[in-house]
Amino acid sequence: MTGGKKILVSGIQPSGTLHIGNYFGAMKRFVELQDEFESFIFVANYHALTSVSDANILAENTRNVILDYLAIGLTPENLFPQSDIPEVTELAWIFNTLITVPYLSRAVAYKEKVEKGLEATVGLFDYPALMAADILIMDADVVPVGQDQKQHVEIARDIAEKFNNRYGETFKLPKAHIMREVATVPGIDGQKMSKSYKNTIPLFATDEEIKKLVMSIVTDSKGEKEKKDVEADTVFALHRLFSETKLAELAERYKNGTIGYKESKEILIKNITSFIGPLRERRNKIARDNKNIFDVIENGRARAQKRARAKMKEVREKVGITF
Ligand code: TYM
Repeated sequence: MTGGKKILVSGIQPSGTLHIGNYFGAMKRFVELQDEFESFIFVANYHALTSVSDANILAENTRNVILDYLAIGLTPENLFPQSDIPEVTELAWIFNTLITVPYLSRAVAYKEKVEKGLEATVGLFDYPALMAADILIMDADVVPVGQDQKQHVEIARDIAEKFNNRYGETFKLPKAHIMREVATVPGIDGQKMSKSYKNTIPLFATDEEIKKLVMSIVTDSKGEKEKKDVEADTVFALHRLFSETKLAELAERYKNGTIGYKESKEILIKNITSFIGPLRERRNKIARDNKNIFDVIENGRARAQKRARAKMKEVREKVGITF
């Protein structure tokens, strides 16, 4: 452990195949910040239980997210599965006794998920308490996330304040770290890209998948020579992530009506393919070289456990669960 650095905590649910929204909204930041901060980055498999009910799929997805993390360049010492830290679920229970049902009822992610057809389980409703435990148990200063998780980090802050008021100064107040320009990456249908909306471009997609998905991005019906609005076009929104060096030129062509959506998509396919190709190769190599990927992150698991255990010892004393 490196003393003196601020603490970074974030996680991703293994609820499906990770996509470029996860990458630009959150994961890229984990890599950029992992040395500046003392980082604790995990696979939120207990959270994923709120939407994945097949044991084999959950286990496989969890393993996949670890591989994804390693492939994008995260240090194994910073990684662990949430379920290796049982103290997190213990702390979430304590938080459950602090927060009220009306307070949690204001969480928009819960309402959205239920509207999309997820079963309204107690776990889904209580999701923010578990997330607060992930964050607060590590004494996080910053939590890099996409826009959709902002409210959850604010809930963690509120819980920390409430706990501190009741039991004395215990938890740091964390802050969400959100990059404005990638706060919400759109999916191929123009809605937020999301594992549950079936509108994603997977982060490790094959060349054929990339081609097919980009070609199916929904656009308006403007013809090749018509002027186009960069703000309203999903293809252009993705150019912002993949076509940085040519962005001004592309914007000009959109405005002048000198590019059609077909050509714009072809350029995007080329740029996404050359970005994902090397990542995919690296991921395949890591998978080939390591029979059990959990061995690779052994130190990360131990490091996170040590920190969480120390914090829970303090919390138990504060709330009176001591013998
Ligand atoms: P999850 O698994 O839904 O998403 C992982 C991260 O990706 C971001 N993200 C996006 N960013 C921009 N555009 C998009 N279209 C997009 N889709 C997803 C999410 O904002 C998130 O940062 N609750 C969390 C997991 C979690 C967590 C935590 C995060 C559990 N405990 C503690 C931080 C700290 C989630 O559902 O992420």
